[in-house]
Amino acid sequence: MKYFNFLTLLFIGLFASCTKVENASVQSPNGHINIAFKINAEGEATYQVFYKDELIIKPSSLGFEFEEQQPLNGKFEIISISGSTFNETWKMRWGEQFEVENSYNKLVVKLQEKNDKKRKVNLVFKASDDGIGFRYEFPEQRNLKDVLIAEENTEFNLTEDYTVWWIPGDWDIYEHLYNTTKFSEIDAKSKANHANLAQTSIPNNAVNTPVTMRGKSGLHLSFHEAALVDYSGMTLGVDTENLKMKSILVGSDNTSYKVKKTVPFKTPWRTIQIAEKATDLIDSKLILNLNEPNRLGDLSWFKPTKYTGIWWEMHLGKSTWDMASGKHGATTENAKRFIDFSAKHNIGAVLIEGWNTGWEHWIGFEDREGVFDFVTPYSDYDLNEVVAYGKQKGVNIIMHHETSAATETYTKQQDTAFALMESLGIHTVKTGYVGKILPKGEYHHGQYMVNHYNNTVEKAAKYKVAINAHEPIKATGLRRTFPNTISREGLRGQEFNAWASDGGNPPEHLPIVAFTRMLAGPIDYTPGIFNIQFNEYKKENQVNTTLAHQLALYVVIYSPVQMVADLIEHYQGNPAFQFIEDVAVDWQKTEVLNGEVGEYVTIARKDRNSENWFVGGITDENKRTVELDFSFLSPNTTYEAILYKDGENAHYKTNPTSIKIEKLTITNTTKLNVKLAEGGGFAISLKPNTK
Ligand code: NOJ
Ligand code: CA
Repeated sequence: MKYFNFLTLLFIGLFASCTKVENASVQSPNGHINIAFKINAEGEATYQVFYKDELIIKPSSLGFEFEEQQPLNGKFEIISISGSTFNETWKMRWGEQFEVENSYNKLVVKLQEKNDKKRKVNLVFKASDDGIGFRYEFPEQRNLKDVLIAEENTEFNLTEDYTVWWIPGDWDIYEHLYNTTKFSEIDAKSKANHANLAQTSIPNNAVNTPVTMRGKSGLHLSFHEAALVDYSGMTLGVDTENLKMKSILVGSDNTSYKVKKTVPFKTPWRTIQIAEKATDLIDSKLILNLNEPNRLGDLSWFKPTKYTGIWWEMHLGKSTWDMASGKHGATTENAKRFIDFSAKHNIGAVLIEGWNTGWEHWIGFEDREGVFDFVTPYSDYDLNEVVAYGKQKGVNIIMHHETSAATETYTKQQDTAFALMESLGIHTVKTGYVGKILPKGEYHHGQYMVNHYNNTVEKAAKYKVAINAHEPIKATGLRRTFPNTISREGLRGQEFNAWASDGGNPPEHLPIVAFTRMLAGPIDYTPGIFNIQFNEYKKENQVNTTLAHQLALYVVIYSPVQMVADLIEHYQGNPAFQFIEDVAVDWQKTEVLNGEVGEYVTIARKDRNSENWFVGGITDENKRTVELDFSFLSPNTTYEAILYKDGENAHYKTNPTSIKIEKLTITNTTKLNVKLAEGGGFAISLKPNTK
């Protein structure tokens, strides 16, 4: 890393006539983004952001309110300014691409109060071509030791009334439908679309992140955070009149403060991804780059995989998690059926939910602490036999730990539970946190739970276990540091289509998710429902997409564990299943071909382990034609392609399973128009012709 002193020199030069330096700035490597720091007339620390010389974040102040001591938000002076530049290319063990470029210019502003206490805080800004990140660092100092943070006062003052895709700043759950409104019309409490979830925790007019917005010029901004460690999740309070956002940390009913820390410490990064085109947001690796490199070393024990599961059948009501109903899903026999099917169709794993005792008493019970022990199977499920049968067929079992949000029991049981997994050679667990957190008064997104989720990942790593958490904390790029954080839910998943009283996820859901939630990290959405209307199980519900849209999700939505979610009998004899059998789960590179937030998106990804490419495109409730340009393919190569597209009269409501499969020959000069039905999509597999 070489020092980047010319900025510092510039400012020292500019302010040489003043007694004190009060400004500093840093630019992205391509010079398009500029962050300007300033101590304002009131002595507050402020920053503003320019994109191509246009102001996009107006002067916004930075600071803290504490308990038991004065706030730290004014009367600052700069004690030093330094700058540096950084450039690296690092490799993802698995992911959307193999190599990731990380280039930024950094500015560190060391601040001190002018009063007697002389408390200190450093502000660290990083400017990359795809956006900015900044964090507070509290250095070792005499008058600040243990801090109880009542609130973080980080502002983001906007310059116009953006169109915003948002979910409410719920302290417990991210499983909301996205709202599309003007910033000035955000009303998180009344527009909180929260079907079928009894408890809501939305104390403010605030939104959760990532929150994405588009301005009049077409510029897109997405606000989020990176490296959320030992701190509370940040929601963004919305001032609709003044077009301002301000951090509101998630709290707890058990304490009047939000976060407890001991100096020295660093906050998570506050991030703004900045893109001229919506598709560039998906390309951005800002969140990952702001995290530290892999700390776990060898990870050869985990391999990205597709998986089937004893899962959708419970959500449809065909079977149950508990045994008492007489319709138990997780039986030895049923598990073997899934293993056989997976072995036959190139699917590496089977998730089995409802395998362990306790499901008679898991949800809605105040005394549910201790109901699951994560080691005792129901009597009709022979864990050892199932695992051995899978091994014989080359299929792994994915363990399931539904904690019912009883976190203290889970913490106590983890060593035993993970050791059982290790002894059986099971390397992946899906965890779940349904319901209000025990201990009472804690929220899913507060500091207590952030620590619980992170500690679980670190402990699991010791047993060579990877975690796919449901009802998780938001993804903040920690998968770079702890790659066994493989995937998570953290959105309204496919399950809502099975039972939500509001009719499930509308067609626009995933065309929004790709530009919002997906910017945070991998998603266990559980695609691949073929029996879209499932009238034999539920007349009132259906999946609100076409079948071709379901196929496309294997490419559009990234996860290193990708579920083949439907009942296996629904795949039998369907030629469209070939795509799921063929599609890769680990990628060498990704090309976002086109898209607009909430309307449509097309992504092409190249398999990490072959020369094959896969393309997926989805649309909202509007039909449309997308033009595909295959110039991303290797030159001088002919590809044998299979196109899976919506049938002539396909429509997500009336004719969702109509699909047309065509064989094509494609080269890097091919252009192709594909028609997508209402709620539709398409998928393409491309294999180089080696003949
Ligand atoms: C909610 C999860 O999202 C779902 O996938 C799971 O089946 C249930 N909890 C039961 O653990
Ligand atoms: Ca869930």
